[in-house]
Amino acid sequence: MADSAKLTLEGTEYELPIVVGSEDEKAIDISKLRDQTGYVTIDGGYKNTGSCLSSITYLDGEKGILRHRGYSIENLAEKAEFLEVAYLVIYGTLPTSNEYEEFKKGIRDHSIIHEDMRHLFDGFPSSGHPMSILSSMVCALSAYYPDCLDADPADDIHITRLLSKIRTIVAFGYKKSIGHPAMYPRNDLSYCANFMHMMFANPAEPYEADPIIVKAINTLLILHADHEQNCSTATVRLVGSSNANLYAAVSAGILALWGPLHGGANQAVIEMLQEIQDSGGDYKGFMDKVKDKSSGVRLMGFGHRVYKSYDPRAKVLKDMAAKLLPHLKVDDPLLDIAKNLEAIALEDSYFVERNLYPNVDFYSGIVYRALGIPVNMFTVMFALGRLPGWIGQWREMMRDPGKKIGRPRQIFTGENARPFVELDKR
Ligand code: CMC
Repeated sequence: MADSAKLTLEGTEYELPIVVGSEDEKAIDISKLRDQTGYVTIDGGYKNTGSCLSSITYLDGEKGILRHRGYSIENLAEKAEFLEVAYLVIYGTLPTSNEYEEFKKGIRDHSIIHEDMRHLFDGFPSSGHPMSILSSMVCALSAYYPDCLDADPADDIHITRLLSKIRTIVAFGYKKSIGHPAMYPRNDLSYCANFMHMMFANPAEPYEADPIIVKAINTLLILHADHEQNCSTATVRLVGSSNANLYAAVSAGILALWGPLHGGANQAVIEMLQEIQDSGGDYKGFMDKVKDKSSGVRLMGFGHRVYKSYDPRAKVLKDMAAKLLPHLKVDDPLLDIAKNLEAIALEDSYFVERNLYPNVDFYSGIVYRALGIPVNMFTVMFALGRLPGWIGQWREMMRDPGKKIGRPRQIFTGENARPFVELDKR
């Protein structure tokens, strides 16, 4: 294998170092290219740009492989607890039982949000989108815990706080949107059961979450825990690279996730399936629109920047939907529509030629719906799951002695220098 790349520019040959990852991924290091040659590289959408070295997640999009710290997503989804995966993603190893107990204790101890913060929810309209409220509230944590402004990234207190309080924030936001009193956390419950309690209990009657539902939430969160340098994670790193605090960086990540091309796709999938149902099952009409580029319609929950084969998370979710819905006695016609749509797409040359397969968002919405999560909260559930990834990637960057502020270059295509023209002469 080459240990450097050669580039010839204007008759001069330059040598560029090669960087090789632990799975033999290869990159050409162009960080000194401009200093040496005066040239920058152009890569709109960062399709081919490695922005960091990271030891958290390995993704092989061609083979449909996803591993966190070496453990396959299938293995983690089947066997682990979400907080174990969170610990793994953030700190690099599976916790020992002592480490795990201590970690969980920290999470338990920080489940309540500042009482003044609870009143902030009253300032939002009840129809406000939960992603907008979540992002605002996570950013507001930086006002309530101002020591985060110059916190040492080695100090874990803000990590623990955020992992714990995000559940309370999400659930309080939901309760406010339906006009119900907030349910305070119950620290005798597990992370996921406590979340279900805050979401679905009410003071008028006893509530105990179905353990199968709690397990399903656990698996859903694990499936979203990290996905290397996606749009929201890259945002968290970029914002954090200026030494903005953790809450600010994660709040920005939440907003990036909201877009329908990213985490917002799970909500958009259900709306799309609903539209097909309302049209009486007109798959052909819908697919014609998808393939007509001028329509602006996409098959939501399909396609991925990195996966060029089946997203392994979508496989787990499809199986989960098949088992969970009968257990919950939910007969959701949208599941059949999704399966039909998938079958049609996988046979259609438009999708085959472009390697478009179901992604994590294609079946997750059907599962969330069956669990009683409202459609406009699907992306919030994605955010709950992705939080360890954002934190782990932020922490990895902040502890990197070679950390640099993120600051891409551009190629300017505007006007050349010209004199100002007075108003009466324009
Ligand atoms: N429906 C129809 N055509 C598609 C789709 C789709 N879902 N996805 C990609 N294409 C076409 C696209 O039009 C283009 O065609 P052509 O080569 O003829 O111009 C080709 O496939 C390549 O697409 P691209 O937009 O250049 O690919 P990308 O890597 O920039 O975009 C994507 C990736 C996820 C934004 C895109 O596949 C998409 O819009 N999918 C639907 C939204 C979605 O499900 N997003 C969730 C992604 S997974 C969860 C997450 O991590 O965010």
